Amino acid sequence: MPARPATTSTPTSTLHTTDWLTLAPTLPRYSIDFLYADPPFNTGKSHSTPPNATKAGRSAQASYFDSWPTTADYISWLRARLLAIIPALKPTASIAIHCDHRASHHIRLLLDELLTPDHFINHLIWHYGLGGSSPRRFARKHDDILIYGIDPAKYYFKAPMVPATSQRLKGKLKKATDVLDIPAINNMARERTGYPTQKPIELLELLISAFCPPGGTVLDPCCGSGTTLLAAANLGRAGIGCDISPAAIGIATKRVPKS
Ligand SMILES: C[S@@+](CC[C@H](N)C(=O)[O-])C[C@H]1O[C@@H](n2cnc3c(N)ncnc32)[C@H](O)[C@@H]1O
Repeated sequence: MPARPATTSTPTSTLHTTDWLTLAPTLPRYSIDFLYADPPFNTGKSHSTPPNATKAGRSAQASYFDSWPTTADYISWLRARLLAIIPALKPTASIAIHCDHRASHHIRLLLDELLTPDHFINHLIWHYGLGGSSPRRFARKHDDILIYGIDPAKYYFKAPMVPATSQRLKGKLKKATDVLDIPAINNMARERTGYPTQKPIELLELLISAFCPPGGTVLDPCCGSGTTLLAAANLGRAGIGCDISPAAIGIATKRVPKS
């Protein structure tokens, strides 16, 4: 039996300070409805809490390492973890891998290999708008979220409704498309913890409401500041999170509601 990781627990949220690879074999078979993973992107650098975040008193210092010698090493790191977690997913479950231009094409091929191409559901574009521009190319303003179903005939999906933007439908709701216009967390945002690369709660609520049935269980095996678990709790879904960084789990534990 693999060693059990250090654990803190509330009725709906469980957080583990451990490697995704260590957690995976401890989870019961067919127990997860939705896997959302926002792993390091292989940017080749470390990510740290920006200096102004601690000044605002919102966070402990935190950082994580995000570099592999080659893309092949990075993909083989991810392959081992996906292979380990797939047995814990229900036949109705789906997998969302959050990545960017550096590796999205490699991860798409990896998921095709592990699940076969006909299990592909969506390539979502998270268009976040924030940041600078470049004189040498179009400004990079999106992340990629690749979604695959464990069983393409059975996966859960409920189309989220978002405000319509056209004049004709002004004031009405429409089904979300595969381009999600959600602002990144700005310096003054109340939800900002200071954890590097924290994702907005609105994005996670949208994904969870679409792919996890009410009362289901969401797993985030690289949970960072706990955004996914907070979103799951807000929506009445159970959340399981792990992160290799004790500082991340410290921040996530403070954010996730207690019983
Ligand atoms: C992009 S960040 C996640 C940010 C998170 N979605 C949030 O909103 O705060 C990636 C996380 O993966 C964690 N990580 C890196 N290697 C890991 C591993 N082997 N197992 C679990 N977590 C890992 C890092 O510590 C970091 O917190």
